[in-house]
Amino acid sequence: MFDAKQFINESIQLIREKIKGKALIACSGGVDSTVAAVLVDKAIGKNLVALHVDTGLMRKNESQQVKKLLEDLGLNNRFVDASERFFNALKGIIDPEKKRKIIGELFIRIFEEVAEEEEVEHLVQGTIAPDWIESGDQLRDTIKSHHNVGGLPKDIKVKIVEPLRDLYKDEVRAVARELKIPIAERQPFPGPGLAVRIIGEVTREKAEIAREACYIVENEIEKAARSGLMELPWQYFAVLLPLKTVGVHGDQRAYGYTIAVRAIQSIDGMSGAYSKIPHEVLDRIATRITNTLGDKVTRVVYDITNKPPATIEWE
Ligand code: XMP
Repeated sequence: MFDAKQFINESIQLIREKIKGKALIACSGGVDSTVAAVLVDKAIGKNLVALHVDTGLMRKNESQQVKKLLEDLGLNNRFVDASERFFNALKGIIDPEKKRKIIGELFIRIFEEVAEEEEVEHLVQGTIAPDWIESGDQLRDTIKSHHNVGGLPKDIKVKIVEPLRDLYKDEVRAVARELKIPIAERQPFPGPGLAVRIIGEVTREKAEIAREACYIVENEIEKAARSGLMELPWQYFAVLLPLKTVGVHGDQRAYGYTIAVRAIQSIDGMSGAYSKIPHEVLDRIATRITNTLGDKVTRVVYDITNKPPATIEWE
């Protein structure tokens, strides 16, 4: 049985031995990076700089919430709006693995800039076991190079520390509960953010559409789960497809994008079954997305594939 208390005590010891001087961690607001940050903060205190980078690919209001969370947890934090740099770097890129690589590398470049300014020697990452297992080793094929593993450039100047490397998601959540981190039950969000939920080229305009659609899916599903209409899925979000279809908006012909709704039940993200969302909830999601996004989105579809054969994200 996994003992969260013991894990915390041992980690603090190990981190103190490994990190001499200052360290930097990028906090996405997700469970993994927040738990890693709090553990390292317990080990080395203000010598840890908790950096949040707004990539422009975060969920609605997320960057502001992350900033507040880091402040509330008493971490030594820094905030950088790098959205323009990310959209520029992703211009014309369609291939999902290239997107991950570009995003991972740009993240690292920004860390390096901040690391240099702050004079840190260590970079802490919230990598957990499924991240590197699915990123391919001698035994497995590369399914996806989850960016905090596969996207690291070879010439990285700082030393990497990964305190959660051997843990699975449920164990990280147990550690979060033990550390009284308020976001422990939040659904996972991929490192490359909305970039892997925008199929094809990523632009600021598409990110705004995907962001709003994701928000609506989250909001309607959470409402339905609270009122007992359905079980809360393990992960639930919207995907913006590059496919344009004809629709009608206010009696006028419209030609807009397609949104795919994805909701999946899983234990650890390694496999899963699509959620059997009641039709009335799907109906509310489709109506709200098309009403809110006007003629930009003319069609909403529901993904009914399990993992395997599909993966959870579309890219
Ligand atoms: P897939 O799509 O591989 O997703 O079935 C399994 C879990 O991993 C998340 N995911 C990622 N997380 N970087 C991450 O940090 C990535 O590039 C990435 N791709 C997928 C996905 O959201 C799900 O929870």
